[in-house]
Amino acid sequence: MSMDLQGKKIVLGLSGGVACYKAAELCRALVKQGAKVQVVMTEAATHFIGTVTMQALSGATVWTDQWDPRMPNNMAHIDLTRGADAVLIAPCSADFIRKLAHGACDDLLSTLCLARPHGVPLLVAPAMNVEMWQNPATQRNVATLQDDGVCIFGPAAGEQACGEVGLGRMLEPEQLLEELVASFQQKVLAGKRVLITAGPTFEAIDPVRGITNLSSGKMGYAIARAAREAGAEVTLVSGPTALATPHGVRRIDVLSAAQMHDAVMAGVEGQHVFIGVAAVADWRVVNASEQKLKKQEGGAPPQLEFAQNPDILAAVAATTSLSGWPYCVGFAAESENLVAYGAAKREKKGIPLLVGNIGHHTFGQDDNAIVLFDDSGHTVLPRADKLTLARQLISEIGKRLEQRSLLT
Ligand code: CTP
Repeated sequence: MSMDLQGKKIVLGLSGGVACYKAAELCRALVKQGAKVQVVMTEAATHFIGTVTMQALSGATVWTDQWDPRMPNNMAHIDLTRGADAVLIAPCSADFIRKLAHGACDDLLSTLCLARPHGVPLLVAPAMNVEMWQNPATQRNVATLQDDGVCIFGPAAGEQACGEVGLGRMLEPEQLLEELVASFQQKVLAGKRVLITAGPTFEAIDPVRGITNLSSGKMGYAIARAAREAGAEVTLVSGPTALATPHGVRRIDVLSAAQMHDAVMAGVEGQHVFIGVAAVADWRVVNASEQKLKKQEGGAPPQLEFAQNPDILAAVAATTSLSGWPYCVGFAAESENLVAYGAAKREKKGIPLLVGNIGHHTFGQDDNAIVLFDDSGHTVLPRADKLTLARQLISEIGKRLEQRSLLT
């Protein structure tokens, strides 16, 4: 398991709302990821979840009251955020958003937010009824917070505890965790649009059978997450996988290479980076049956005829010659002579960066080792879990885009 928050000191603030029950799970997840969590609750939050629960999960005293006599110097509002890496308010009610927007300091949590040191980010996960969220007053307050540099996580749309449906649900603990981890990453792709292919493709033989490969999609999904963490707007065109979509990533599901090609070409305009991670089938079955093929007693097995699939990466690279965008990154799996074959494949594909998998048993694994080929040679990124490698790759892409912009 990754320990992305190892050693991070997080002040987790709860204001009043039903979503307090999700804060318990969030607290547990933060601790599991190595964070040191300090819980502070408003009086309203204590009506929704007990301090004992939050204390047991965080392993630290939960503070609720500015006048708590257990704090010897009465400086809880100052002390709790000194040395903190972030203050995360989850759930953040409409009223607490109002207080933050106006600099209120009439309880411990709002006072510590106001008194937090300049460099400590304030992260807010709204949770409220859809009408409260959409009310212009709340939207004004949210806009004020954004202007003040506060990060707003969510809210999500869906069914609400009150029975109404719409925007206002707090993000799930897992999504908040992803947002929090992302907030600590370098924004090397801020403002960039990134299109990624991932997973296998599936080439139909008949309505229930097909040809596919063992790609799990893990590397492509990790790259999508890392690109989003780096500030990019990410579209992921994915073959069939069992993976959850990384938070904040737009995902388009496809089956065949032809569908993947069409989805990519329909979305490629305006993209700054294209990363072809998918294991695209080289061939499709041209005589696929519309009905399920039946065994014939004593008969011959079906004869399949193949045609070559379009090379998606090459098609995207061809569009680059017109505008200079997108910056194209390909992947290669070689079972031998990686350095020679990788460099040659990059030239043949006409792309600035090619990523070679070291060893060809990477499908489905949680870790990998890769080599980057560009026009100045090759660089090895040693074995690590796929998210770590994905972040390194995104940082390398960011550096190359930066160099490019300096040259042009
Ligand atoms: N690719 C693609 N469309 C295809 C085939 C491949 O976009 N029809 C992309 C893959 O996503 C990957 C790279 O091209 O980024 C892989 O190139 P490819 O030439 O297929 O390499 P290998 O699979 O390594 O094949 P071979 O060794 O047979 O050339």
